[in-house]
Amino acid sequence: MCAHYEITLNDVSKIFGKKLALDKVSLKIKKGSIFGLIGPNGAGKSTLTSLLATLSLPDEGTVTISDLDVVSQVKQVRKKIGITFQEPSIFTTGTAWDNLFIAGKIYDMNISKIKEQGEYLLKEFNLNQVSNDLVGTYSGGMKRKLDIAISLLHKPEVLFLDEPTTGLDPESRNTLWQIISNISHREGTTIFVTTHYLEELNNVATDIALINNGKVLDVGTPKELINKLAADHIEIHYSRLNSSMIQKIDEYVSNMIEVINHKIKPTSLTIISSKGQQILSKLLKFLIRNEVEIEFSELKQATLNDVYLSNFTEKGDK
Ligand SMILES: Nc1ncnc2c1ncn2[C@@H]1O[C@H](COP(=O)(O)OP(=O)(O)OP(=O)(O)O)[C@@H](O)[C@H]1O
Ligand SMILES: [Mg+2]
Repeated sequence: MCAHYEITLNDVSKIFGKKLALDKVSLKIKKGSIFGLIGPNGAGKSTLTSLLATLSLPDEGTVTISDLDVVSQVKQVRKKIGITFQEPSIFTTGTAWDNLFIAGKIYDMNISKIKEQGEYLLKEFNLNQVSNDLVGTYSGGMKRKLDIAISLLHKPEVLFLDEPTTGLDPESRNTLWQIISNISHREGTTIFVTTHYLEELNNVATDIALINNGKVLDVGTPKELINKLAADHIEIHYSRLNSSMIQKIDEYVSNMIEVINHKIKPTSLTIISSKGQQILSKLLKFLIRNEVEIEFSELKQATLNDVYLSNFTEKGDK
């Protein structure tokens, strides 16, 4: 119905026995976006991914991909999507090209198309030098790259990645994300990804949904979620203050509307605020005006990890 959205879910539920794995999930995922789904173990991420990838059926609600219904138009949907599972699904006893040809046949592609797209992808994923080596000799990172390259062989409009970077070292994770986001930008591929490495999403995701107990708790850009659900942390240390100055500072901070919480001591002040940078510079000016001798100040800006911790862990947990 709407050209702007690639994937739409309306009140989608999935039940396993008595377990409600997805509970009336509604989402709209924009064409060409990199959409991240985050949540703790058992939240429903893989259930949602496999449902979108037409590998299981919803018990309630509707899902469309590129305006096609995933239940009644499954064949057409499958032509438009690619999926990479957490466990590599490649043949280690063959070469990269063997794997590409097998996948190409499954996708019903002719040999010249497989060669053309295969060469492009092997180059993009830096595997062209090893394309005729046995996959069994590849490192974990190379296997993962090949797995993703194969899922892009038939030029899908949507790529589903369930925990694509698990087990990779930080450099390999960065490289993989660069390649995936380059391809998404160049080809307009919509990427739906689940991951536990939240900081990766901060750099690449256009939108993120938080899921827990099968329910979507919030959706937004990384920045929106950080601003809404996490806060910056300010710490200022100064030479010992007398009680009247403590009271003066306490009053000043209490009147700052952006301050969520604060704690003042004779030698330090800590503040929780969604606008850390602004609060810190206002405060430093105020303290200097009042001739407070500042020893040091620190601003810890909120990250997606803080969003995760404040939503998915017990209060007070470290
Ligand atoms: N085939 C199944 N049969 C029964 N219960 C299932 C099945 N698949 C998933 N579940 C249950 O549904 C819930 C969601 O599981 P799911 O695998 O989607 O979580 P997840 O968010 O992917 O977790 P993880 O981060 O550990 O991969 C869990 O309680 C799980 O036990
Ligand atoms: Mg999972």
